[in-house]
Amino acid sequence: MLFLASSLLPQAVFWSVAAAHILSREDARIPDYVNTYAPLVYLDQNELYLPSDIQSQLNNTYAALNYTAITNGPSPLLLSNLDQLDAIGHCNVNDFDSCPIYLTSKDDVTKSPPWLYGVLPDPTTHETIKARSCAIIVNDHGGGVVDAFYMYFYAFNLGNVVLGQTLGNHVGDWEHTMVRFKDGKPVSMWYSQHDNGQAFTYEALSKNGTRPIVYSAIGTHANYAVPGTHSRSIASVVINDTTSAGPLWDPTLSAYYYTYTPTSSTNGTFTGSDVSTPVSWLSFLGRWGDERYPDSDPRQTNFLGVTWRYESGPTGPLDKDLNRTDVCPRNGNVCSTSTALPAASGPSIPVTVSRSIKATETSKSSTAHATSTGGAMPLKVELGTAGMVAIAAVML
Ligand SMILES: *[C@@H]1O[C@H](CO)[C@@H](O)[C@H](O)[C@H]1NC(C)=O
Ligand SMILES: *[C@@H]1O[C@H](CO)[C@@H](O)[C@H](O)[C@H]1NC(C)=O
Ligand SMILES: *[C@@H]1O[C@H](CO)[C@@H](O)[C@H](O)[C@H]1NC(C)=O
Ligand SMILES: *[C@@H]1O[C@H](CO)[C@@H](O)[C@H](O)[C@H]1NC(C)=O
Ligand SMILES: *[C@@H]1O[C@H](CO)[C@@H](O)[C@H](O)[C@H]1NC(C)=O
Ligand SMILES: *[C@@H]1O[C@H](CO)[C@@H](O)[C@H](O)[C@H]1NC(C)=O
Repeated sequence: MLFLASSLLPQAVFWSVAAAHILSREDARIPDYVNTYAPLVYLDQNELYLPSDIQSQLNNTYAALNYTAITNGPSPLLLSNLDQLDAIGHCNVNDFDSCPIYLTSKDDVTKSPPWLYGVLPDPTTHETIKARSCAIIVNDHGGGVVDAFYMYFYAFNLGNVVLGQTLGNHVGDWEHTMVRFKDGKPVSMWYSQHDNGQAFTYEALSKNGTRPIVYSAIGTHANYAVPGTHSRSIASVVINDTTSAGPLWDPTLSAYYYTYTPTSSTNGTFTGSDVSTPVSWLSFLGRWGDERYPDSDPRQTNFLGVTWRYESGPTGPLDKDLNRTDVCPRNGNVCSTSTALPAASGPSIPVTVSRSIKATETSKSSTAHATSTGGAMPLKVELGTAGMVAIAAVML
């Protein structure tokens, strides 16, 4: 599709205005460069929790308030009616934490229902076939600055191993990268990682042709620019993410496309790229997975009241700061855009993965199915409560 930035020549402004009259309100204009420079994602070679169809999450969950199914909500839950839940939950767009609605699994997720595992991208085309697993959201700031958000959806997040314990699992997982363009040229890119992330200049990135490479960490799906081990240290405890050039996923082949027009710092209007693109779900202010299981639930392990084996599901794309000043979200951290990649600690040569396209519930992986064996006491001894609070903050 043709896109003409309003900052270009006067003629361009004319055509842009003319086009607005021809296209219907639903036809968002997506610039070609949003696909030309779209990231390509390497999933980890041992990843079990693959990208997943966004509607499929709705089919396999019910809306719950305080662990109780909502009976007066839309039925079935659809990407085209999901924001009707906001009124029932009395959600406040200025505070996502105030929206108490959780899309809650119909199945016991500890019993490995197949939908939790998503879809392995086709090894030839790299598409998650029949699974719309990505939303691409374009925000034209004016002045030639355009941000393209690539929102990646996974049905399940397997938490990191912390001192031998898998902590912070949750149903539903929204991750993203964002490319900032100036006058149609990619300038910089953001990689989401837990409660923060990393920014690089486009020039610094590894690429496949024009397209930046993303490595999605096993289980947590945090996004990195290089393969290998990514350690973060909290209260002297090392937590590692692992990335490798496993199955290649081209998210553009199974994406919905939107433009976004902010109406405030936390809200805005989404317009789909065509009339068949569902829009309602982007204004749903609740959570895309189960509420943290109560301590009385046998599936749950409470680590000193600061972090849990099963945490609550995440909020959606609207909560990713879609109208940013800089390439980083405004989250209180300094935004520094690196001009060089960190050293890679793993091979960037693609790994041949031989397995069936459909991940099954019987898949076995010692990494992915790491289980909680110990109790909470060793953690307390090594960390103290301050350390545990720090860990809880970065487990998302
Ligand atoms: C979800 O359910 C609807 C009907 O409610 C059905 O049309 C659709 O195919 C289902 N989608 C998936 C991905 O299972
Ligand atoms: C949630 O349900 C529990 C038990 O049914 C009840 O004690 C509690 O008050 C409820 N909380 C809210 C916020 O409605
Ligand atoms: C580059 O991307 C194409 C898909 O766009 C893929 O077929 C090819 O294998 C990729 N190259 C490498 C080295 O990963
Ligand atoms: C994390 O990675 C570092 C560096 O590769 C390694 O020395 C350490 O043993 C790893 N720790 C865990 C808990 O996996
Ligand atoms: C969106 O961000 C721009 C800066 O790029 C700012 O000037 C504008 O006021 C913001 N819009 C809203 C509605 O917050
Ligand atoms: C957020 O914006 C959408 C689209 O403009 C609007 O329909 C919705 O009412 C707004 N939500 C709130 C809580 O203000």
